[in-house]
Amino acid sequence: MKFNRLYYKYVPVIAIDGPTASGKGTIAQLVAAQLGFHVLDSGALYRLVGLAVQRYQVNKNDVSALVSLIHSLHFSFQEGCVQLDGVDVSTGIRHETVSRLASAISVHAPVRRALLARQHAFRKPPGLVADGRDMGTIIFTDAVLKVFLTASAEDRAQRRYKQLIEQGFPAKIETILCDLLERDSSDINRASSPLKPALDARLLDTSVLSISEVVNRILVWYQKNDLHTDVTKNTFS
Ligand code: C5P
Repeated sequence: MKFNRLYYKYVPVIAIDGPTASGKGTIAQLVAAQLGFHVLDSGALYRLVGLAVQRYQVNKNDVSALVSLIHSLHFSFQEGCVQLDGVDVSTGIRHETVSRLASAISVHAPVRRALLARQHAFRKPPGLVADGRDMGTIIFTDAVLKVFLTASAEDRAQRRYKQLIEQGFPAKIETILCDLLERDSSDINRASSPLKPALDARLLDTSVLSISEVVNRILVWYQKNDLHTDVTKNTFS
């Protein structure tokens, strides 16, 4: 459906940001299902580029080659299935080598710019739940609700370990923790769109709350439309 810029601004967005394995993906899906909203898993977009870099043997430091690659990518997200150039890559993009490539290519500002319009295209009626690292700070600065999820690195590594084992990937907790800390550091310290909460984001620690508690809290914030009270002090650094 085509609609103009003004109309676009009226499509509500809930931005959910946070570090690797903080539970963003699951929580975004559940919130969106409750509201009948669309979902943008922006990490999956970076992963698609990572997978394409691997598949088409593009140099991960050659920024202009990466931008050309992004412009030539044909992908689709439908009902939990991610396709790249007609091939189902839903599982392939979750592989740890792809995670590392996604993280490596995401530091380049031109790569992030090349993915901007692709992300905005997900904003369609009746609304969007967007998860990633810079949804609230850069991509959807006018989001009606911005949530920043936190959790200890150990809890997140445990969560990622379980996920990988369930998906049938071999995994070692020590390697996952190391990798996760490295990706956190790259996400937080990069010059372009670093991982940080928006000034108007609400912080939620997912290691002390269950998934359904987090989802309910987000739904209550959204439905009350009472978005300027009860904001946890923003202490992420
Ligand atoms: O969220 P996920 O772990 O799937 O993201 C894969 C990688 O993509 C992250 O490690 C991060 O470096 C990058 N990313 C990003 N900005 C986003 C989403 C993901 O830089 N909005």
